[in-house]
Amino acid sequence: MNTMNTIPRNKILLFLFVLYILTGCKTLQTGNHKLAGSTKEYQGGMWIPSELKGKNEKEMKALGSKLTADDIYSLEEASLKDAVVLFDGGCTAEIISSQGLLLTNHHCGYNAIQSHSTVEHDYLKDGFWAASLQDELPNEDMTVTLVERMEKVTEQILKDTDGLNGEQKEKIIEKNKKQILSGLSLKEWEDAQIVPFSKGNDYYLIVSKVFRDIRLVGAPPSSIGKFGADTDNWMWPRHSGDFSLFRIYVDKNNNPAKYSEDNVPYHPEKYLKVSTDGVAEGDFTMVFGFPGRTNEYLPSVAIDQLIHKLNPDKIALREASLAIMDKYMRKDPAVKIQYASKYASIANYWKKWIGEMQGLIRTNAVEKKRAMEEEFLRRAHRKNRTEYYGIFDEFNDLYAEYGDIAQRRDYWIEVIYRNIDLMYLNFALYRMERTFMLKGEKAFLRERDKWIEKSRSFYKNYSPQIDKEIFAKLMYMYDAKYPTTKVNEKARKEIWEKKANDIYSQTRLTTREGLLEMLKGSPEEIIKRLNADPAYQLAKEKSIDFLEKINPAYYSIKEKIDAVQKKYIRGLASLMPEQRMFPDANSTLRVTYGLVKGYKPKDGITYLPVSYLQGVMQKYIPGDYEFDVSPKLRELYRKKDYGVYGEGEKMPVNFIGTNHTTGGNSGSPVLDAYGNLIGLNFDRVWEGTMSDYYYDPEICRNIMVDIRYILFIIDKYAGAERIIRELDFVHPKKKQ
Ligand code: ARG
Ligand code: GLU
Repeated sequence: MNTMNTIPRNKILLFLFVLYILTGCKTLQTGNHKLAGSTKEYQGGMWIPSELKGKNEKEMKALGSKLTADDIYSLEEASLKDAVVLFDGGCTAEIISSQGLLLTNHHCGYNAIQSHSTVEHDYLKDGFWAASLQDELPNEDMTVTLVERMEKVTEQILKDTDGLNGEQKEKIIEKNKKQILSGLSLKEWEDAQIVPFSKGNDYYLIVSKVFRDIRLVGAPPSSIGKFGADTDNWMWPRHSGDFSLFRIYVDKNNNPAKYSEDNVPYHPEKYLKVSTDGVAEGDFTMVFGFPGRTNEYLPSVAIDQLIHKLNPDKIALREASLAIMDKYMRKDPAVKIQYASKYASIANYWKKWIGEMQGLIRTNAVEKKRAMEEEFLRRAHRKNRTEYYGIFDEFNDLYAEYGDIAQRRDYWIEVIYRNIDLMYLNFALYRMERTFMLKGEKAFLRERDKWIEKSRSFYKNYSPQIDKEIFAKLMYMYDAKYPTTKVNEKARKEIWEKKANDIYSQTRLTTREGLLEMLKGSPEEIIKRLNADPAYQLAKEKSIDFLEKINPAYYSIKEKIDAVQKKYIRGLASLMPEQRMFPDANSTLRVTYGLVKGYKPKDGITYLPVSYLQGVMQKYIPGDYEFDVSPKLRELYRKKDYGVYGEGEKMPVNFIGTNHTTGGNSGSPVLDAYGNLIGLNFDRVWEGTMSDYYYDPEICRNIMVDIRYILFIIDKYAGAERIIRELDFVHPKKKQ
């Protein structure tokens, strides 16, 4: 007999309510969440692919996945991980055919696409589609890295370090590392690294294969690949076809090799199958890639400092610089092109920081962390874990010291290094002078030659007039924050305006010819000439301050913070075992999963999870550099000629989900419940960019291109059928 029938109904309800409180409605969190009110929706976290068995596997199943941990990562047979690669050091890509075809973002292939472009063949503007294998374009220095295995080696690395600290401990760790690495027998194309996780609480051995012949296969025009550019960056609703295609080439034995005409397409152990069945709200999604860096376990004091001290000034400095660039870019279409990439890269994180700050404030991240810290202390006391009693006082003291030096460093980086090109150039030249002192003539000349090479693109994208105005403004802001003279603000402004005029009219370094002249002759002659230049003199003074004072001070305090942070992470794991803790991103391969889902950006507004081609047309501004739409795409839209890729009258473009991603996840494959490719990750929503510090499933969303839009562009827009023919299509939903 069913016991339920014998228990009064109200008791059952009470029981269910208590169960709900105990299991579903969790309030104490750090970086990631179990959604309140549901035991089913486990989201947030970037998990280690070799350790998904058990907990993660169960969570994924609860979200709708049909995959086993072995489907994702296995050493026995080919698994999904064999199709996911680190692309050119900073992005992710995936293998999508038996011929080594790679899919990644347009913004990840951007440099390569640009480098093959000329005025006659502007692939950035018009797109590029190789008609045959022979037409695919090699890219010098580009690499693709495939993880063969990763293995936890914490015990071996920390062997014989008990009770040791500082340098002594480091020495033993180094010795242990060497021992592991020297015990490996690597092929010439293999690479092995020992990578610290969770501030050194753990270590992993990662063995990879490095491919060195990577060729460009296809890219849409920027009006598709970068549609919406900076205005739409970090934003939803989005309408971008942010993808490009490459191919891995190998030698005749299918092994990685340097570029050679004789190389052939790679035959991978695994490639992703493509599903065009489409996505719907609530569908399971998984993103597999190489997230760069997160800081999910910072104490509240650090988040508070980020919100109220560090981010605002960095934002203000970039804002000043962007406003000046924008003023000139609006006036002159040539400048608009010349400064487009620079503007985009400064604007990218400027915009991210604003969203991050607002998100942290809006979700009360500081208060939530504080509440969690109180609970942490309560538990530490209950369990007599004396080593944790003072941990937040330690943090508070250290961060009080850290704030000022970190801010000083931020100013230096933003002003000297990031925003004033003339100062950036002279910092590089000054480092050359130091190289000569430390390493001698040969090393000096190598660096010089690199700069002679680099100077072409540097000056192509350089306007002394704009740079001078940015100099006057940012140097003034720098000097107002850290005064070198005691004057009122009006006088300070005038001083820097005058200095700008003097320096920019006297220096020889605002033109390529000037620089090349300066770099002629012996190292001694070059250094002497440089030291007589006023721009160099100023940059040198500021650089010495940075290299000899600011940076060492910063790292000395950062090291202390990291040691406490390491202890804190260990404490969280042992005192708050109910939390879903994962090691912060560190550019190693990770899995994150979630659901296709809309969100509420602010009161009274709900965003839907999918965007359509109709939205591209609604944003269309003829001739605009961000929102133009090509005639071909307009015609396909008018005829609703979507081939097999549309949803009736509609062509899906982008969608969002609760996958926890960060920079580096660009180009990551988005997989369905069966491990089929359904999309391509490329961004996050603005309100949720704080997920690098605090993931909140209510508003943190990643943005993906629907694979059907990518296929539609390749097939119907570009007519590149040969690419479509390489792919393996499956229909899991239609089978059900
Ligand atoms: N926000 C994305 C990322 O962080 C895309 C950046 C490239 N696009 C751009 N408009 N800057 O890297
Ligand atoms: N666009 C980012 C990248 O290049 C991904 C967006 C994010 O930061 O999540 O990696």
